[in-house]
Amino acid sequence: MSFRLQPQPVARPNRCQLFGPGSNTKLFAKMAASAADVINLDLEDSVAPTDKDIARANVIEAINTVDWGNKTISVRINSLDTPYWYRDVVDLLEQASERLDIIMIPKVGCAEDVYAVDALVTAIERAKGRTKKIGFEVIIESAAGIAHCEAIAAASPRMQAMSLGAADFAASMGMQTTGIGGTQENYYMLRDGTKHWSDPWHWAQTAIVAACRTHGVLPVDGPFGDFSDDEGYRAQALRSATLGMVGKWAIHPKQIALANEVFTPSDAAVSEAREILAAMEVAKANGEGATVYKGRLVDIASIKQAEVIVRQSEMIAG
Ligand code: COA
Ligand code: MG
Repeated sequence: MSFRLQPQPVARPNRCQLFGPGSNTKLFAKMAASAADVINLDLEDSVAPTDKDIARANVIEAINTVDWGNKTISVRINSLDTPYWYRDVVDLLEQASERLDIIMIPKVGCAEDVYAVDALVTAIERAKGRTKKIGFEVIIESAAGIAHCEAIAAASPRMQAMSLGAADFAASMGMQTTGIGGTQENYYMLRDGTKHWSDPWHWAQTAIVAACRTHGVLPVDGPFGDFSDDEGYRAQALRSATLGMVGKWAIHPKQIALANEVFTPSDAAVSEAREILAAMEVAKANGEGATVYKGRLVDIASIKQAEVIVRQSEMIAG
């Protein structure tokens, strides 16, 4: 570890973020009753330009009146290149109750985008005497966003989470696909005439995980568009979890259980992690830094790996 210690992200479950358009009020109660850890009420791209004002009013009313239980409540505002975003922030901060936890800033391209929203939020919080400090989450979904993701992760103490938004990201990068995440037909290697599909999202996910872990922010995988493809969703989520992401979006209720399953460490994984910790306790008592567990090397680094799994499981259970 560097002399500068790696900060811990906020300790709350973020296995599934369920989205719903702010213009579709009949979804709110269903979202509140769902098993998602985080609710993302959307004012951005699932809301038509003609519905922006009504969606904003709907979302504020829903925050103030729906029983959201212990879920984290986030609102996705419009991006900073639109005429809508300032009104989103002003109305939310002036009219939504302190039940609002997080503002999600989409299409972030640089740290200054976060700074601008922070300045506005901070001024309104002070003016209105709000006691709970609003958190931020951002979507990395452009070439500029991925190029600057480390500075973005460090841009504000409000930063809690960062998601990869595959569709806008692909468009901004000029990628030849209309898929939202998952396997891309033309991204394959050939060996002996057989195709082997590779993962075009891998490097962006890894860059986001590194930026997030450096600055104590939760890395999250964004949407998977084909909600009829459970196995495709599961495969994408398993890759994200393996890379260090803590959760994934659901754009349809079908996807919630899949995300919760993948991002909750399994009983088997937790028992194995506990066994590794126990084996290392024995090794330590014998003055050894390394030992053998089920025929493989475990050492002091294995303690940290095992602790990631145990900590995640305890945090979710708590
Ligand atoms: N949250 C909660 N419930 C939802 C839901 C959501 N996001 N999406 C659909 N449902 C409900 C439906 O109301 C329906 O309920 P019912 O059985 O009581 O009638 C049930 O789940 C099945 O829905 P289905 O008919 O399969 O889907 P749909 O055609 O009604 O809606 C979408 C499909 C994609 C339009 C809708 O899921 C949606 O709006 N998703 C979110 C889009 C979004 O927020 N995008 C921005 C982030 S990328
Ligand atoms: Mg987007």
